[in-house]
Amino acid sequence: MPNHRLFFQRAMAGTALLLALWLLVSSRVWGPGTRSLRRGFQPRSELTILIWHWPFGKPLPLDGDVCAHYGVANCRLSANHSLLGRASAVVFHHHELQEGAVRLPLAHRPLGQPWVWTNLESPSNTHGLSRYRNIFNWVMTYRRDSDIFVPYGELVPRDGAAPPVPAKSRTAAWVISNYHRAQKRVLVYNQLSKHLRVDVFGRANRKPLCPDCLLPALAPYRFYLAFENSQHRDYITEKLWRNALSAGAVPVALGPPRSTYEAFLPADAFVHVDDFGSVRELAAFLKGMNASRYQSFFAWRERLAVRLHGDWRERFCAICAHYPRLPQNQVYADLEAWFKS
Ligand SMILES: *[C@@H]1O[C@H](CO)[C@@H](O)[C@H](O)[C@H]1NC(C)=O
Ligand SMILES: *[C@@H]1O[C@H](CO)[C@@H](O)[C@H](O)[C@H]1NC(C)=O
Repeated sequence: MPNHRLFFQRAMAGTALLLALWLLVSSRVWGPGTRSLRRGFQPRSELTILIWHWPFGKPLPLDGDVCAHYGVANCRLSANHSLLGRASAVVFHHHELQEGAVRLPLAHRPLGQPWVWTNLESPSNTHGLSRYRNIFNWVMTYRRDSDIFVPYGELVPRDGAAPPVPAKSRTAAWVISNYHRAQKRVLVYNQLSKHLRVDVFGRANRKPLCPDCLLPALAPYRFYLAFENSQHRDYITEKLWRNALSAGAVPVALGPPRSTYEAFLPADAFVHVDDFGSVRELAAFLKGMNASRYQSFFAWRERLAVRLHGDWRERFCAICAHYPRLPQNQVYADLEAWFKS
């Protein structure tokens, strides 16, 4: 696909031969159906991503070249609805669609304009998807098989020396806002807390931590219960990346299987609830930890650092970064079936 753009630019410079070649190549590669979707978009060097509404109703400033800040060139973000007729892609965040706060501008959609569906919640907390058949062309989620994959965090090569592991004086912490007895994480916590002291923070326990207080509060703990609210394919959130790894606490993971976590971070960087035959064994392992064994959980920090992805603008810019490689003849016929799979 990148070749296609190169060919086009040369053609614009007046090389008729290359233009002919481009037409030949493009018709072979994409066929008639796909060409119609590209028409009107590819010739522009700058892409415009129209943010139809801001996630959770929280607008962010778009002054200056926002995407250049994230290393993405030729990418303009706008929330101005009057650009619907010419945007390279339009992105819709699910929460506001689910709440009925926003409607899709279906009647005014230009022919072939790619529409992006974005959502960072798990299927357990995502509703109303059955309405969206044959509408969205690309999906942007935490799932690795998304067209635009936007994880909550990642490990990146480290520049310079790793900061020291924070001094440890306590065993295990957990931050929980929404406590429901039927959740697996609550069942595991209830059993674990019979064998091990777990300090609980968050709204559910009336001990909320302000955003700047979170990491210092969690740093003295050896372990952090990185328990996801529901267990789904690739659903790994800031509970792992920020509350545990950024705080310098070893994650005790409850979420997708260990093999999924190992696709995101080294196998010896975390403890997984499934590593043990029972919660009692897990508690014994955490309590019986000695200093040398504990230090080995931090080996990765010599070469890797945590990078949190929290800014929606970075995610919207990622649409541009992926744009040349995104499938051009695709529509999610049944978005619900895809997301629940
Ligand atoms: C939206 O875009 C239109 C057309 O480019 C422009 O006339 C208008 O001033 C813009 N509105 C805002 C709020 O920027
Ligand atoms: C620390 O624990 C590990 C694993 O449980 C064990 O193999 C090692 O011998 C222990 N080291 C000391 C100094 O107790």
